Amino acid sequence: MGRTPSCVHIQTQTPTLAHQTHTPRASAAMATTPSPPPSATTMRAVQYDGYGGGAEGLKHVEVPIPAPKEGELLIKMEAASINPIDWKIQKGMLRLFLPKKFPFIPVGDLSGEVVELGGGVSGFKPGDKVVSMSFPNCGGLAEYAVAPASLTVARPPEVSAADGASLPAAAGSALQQLKAAGVRFDADADAAAAAAGPKNVLVTAASGGVGHYAVQLAKLAGLHVTATCGARNLAFVRDGLGADEALDYRTPDGAALRSPSGRRYDAVAHCAPPAPWPVFRDALADAGGVVVDLTPGVAATVRSFLHRVTFSKKRLVPLILMPKKEEMEWLVDMAKQGKLKTTIDSKYPLSRAQEAWAKSMEGHATGKIVVEMGGTE
Ligand SMILES: NC(=O)c1ccc[n+]([C@@H]2O[C@H](COP(=O)([O-])OP(=O)(O)OC[C@H]3O[C@@H](n4cnc5c(N)ncnc54)[C@H](OP(=O)(O)O)[C@@H]3O)[C@@H](O)[C@H]2O)c1
Repeated sequence: MGRTPSCVHIQTQTPTLAHQTHTPRASAAMATTPSPPPSATTMRAVQYDGYGGGAEGLKHVEVPIPAPKEGELLIKMEAASINPIDWKIQKGMLRLFLPKKFPFIPVGDLSGEVVELGGGVSGFKPGDKVVSMSFPNCGGLAEYAVAPASLTVARPPEVSAADGASLPAAAGSALQQLKAAGVRFDADADAAAAAAGPKNVLVTAASGGVGHYAVQLAKLAGLHVTATCGARNLAFVRDGLGADEALDYRTPDGAALRSPSGRRYDAVAHCAPPAPWPVFRDALADAGGVVVDLTPGVAATVRSFLHRVTFSKKRLVPLILMPKKEEMEWLVDMAKQGKLKTTIDSKYPLSRAQEAWAKSMEGHATGKIVVEMGGTE
């Protein structure tokens, strides 16, 4: 605490980042400003200049406050949550696509207050508290960020800024995983559709950002949930999240995904690192089942293709999150009602964003890692 950033430098020239998030305010001729813009013209931000470097590659800078373009909002940031995709982009794992230009201000899961509307944006006004997903442009490790109105939703007072920022990628992925496995969440799902869905579900890495939401959502849907996690989180996953049974992934039974009650699974929400297909195949029910894989490697992608063309009863399906505003609204509403709780592993002020980054890269978070813009230094 009380630490000041060790590597602040002032960037006075126009940022070279071409994508919309960091366009200097002066160039946004079309933006409408129904409320006074921030009195300052620059903001504190954390960015990196090239691939690699991990937490040490993040630099504290002072850059122009971005201006919202058509369809965007300018948000005064309260909190941002880090996801593994953020440091995977920095590592260059998506280097064919992302980031579009350096320097790059990372992190796409945002929470804050609307201060300015770009052209064509309706349904929001300055002062609104919101949760937003700005991906792939990101920009969340900053005092201000622009985000698409199409992926911005209202945040009610019952949902804290930190909890709100935690939801978009992690809870969104958990929801889409379960839906891809045939789980129905709509109240008017007919009995036949609900009955056709899975009954016994396995969630791997249930203690992580995605997994801890997946367990809760699967329980909301009335399923029997087996979960894998490390020994230190067995009680958290069972008693805190509501899993029916939990397995330590470092034991032989855990590595084999073997249910303590002898169940075989109709569906697996796979959030842990890649595992060999025979492990999943033997854990799935004889009647068939699906593994919805958030971390597919090349082998899993090939396997999935083979399953599709051979109409296999036991299938592996890779999933890439396709964020949807209506799902974000639903998740925020579940959080508002107290049905979906966020566990925060740790919070850091912007001045200590490198520590948050390093913590995420270690891969041992319990729940979400959050950077708070007004956080205690
Ligand atoms: N495809 C997509 O669109 C998409 C979307 C979101 C996330 N993802 C990917 O999904 C993965 C999970 O994301 P996340 O945000 O949940 O990550 P995370 O929060 O960093 O996950 C950390 C947790 O995983 C646990 N864990 C690690 N290895 C495990 C294993 N073999 N078995 C069981 N638990 C294990 C850790 O437990 P210990 O500390 O006890 O080791 C820790 O609690 C990441 O690889 C991420 O990139 C993909």
